[in-house]
Amino acid sequence: MNVGIIVYSKTGNTLSVAEKLQEAIRSAGHTVNIERIETERDDPNSPLKKAPDTEPYEVLIFASPVHAFSLAKPMDAYLSQITDIKNKKVYCFITQQLKKSWMGGDRAVKQIISKCKKKGADVILSGGVNWSSAKRETQIEDIVTKMSSL
Ligand SMILES: Cc1cc2nc3c(=O)[nH]c(=O)nc-3n(C[C@H](O)[C@H](O)[C@H](O)COP(=O)(O)O)c2cc1C
Repeated sequence: MNVGIIVYSKTGNTLSVAEKLQEAIRSAGHTVNIERIETERDDPNSPLKKAPDTEPYEVLIFASPVHAFSLAKPMDAYLSQITDIKNKKVYCFITQQLKKSWMGGDRAVKQIISKCKKKGADVILSGGVNWSSAKRETQIEDIVTKMSSL
């Protein structure tokens, strides 16, 4: 399968998880690319400079940090502007600093699910990493294991 991991990452945490996932998906024999969503300035409120095309991929994995108890704005803006993604397999994960998923993570995942639904796709699987939690490495492993067994 051709897999696109579409990532917004401001400080590198989400990207680091995406890279581990990319390695696992590649080892499983699939074609996989990480595509970055980029903003014009180093400010999540600034307009998008790079909005990856979803068209080439059969599987899409959206990955974003939580900002202000919500989905980071660049991912939110990106998902609002993409073309229809029906007939694609869609997964997503978020990373957040705080230890509990109710501190923004759950809401951010719900936002991704809702945006994807508007574009015609159901999110099959979602995950979250609480960066300051002792469970961080287990959470990362869980995402990598589940999302690489496409
Ligand atoms: C502007 C901003 C707002 C944030 N708000 C939250 C928040 O509400 N809850 C939380 O758990 N983490 C919050 N964080 C922390 C990030 O979600 C966390 O460090 C994440 O792993 C960063 O991912 P990245 O390195 O891929 O950008 C915030 C970070 C930034 C820069």
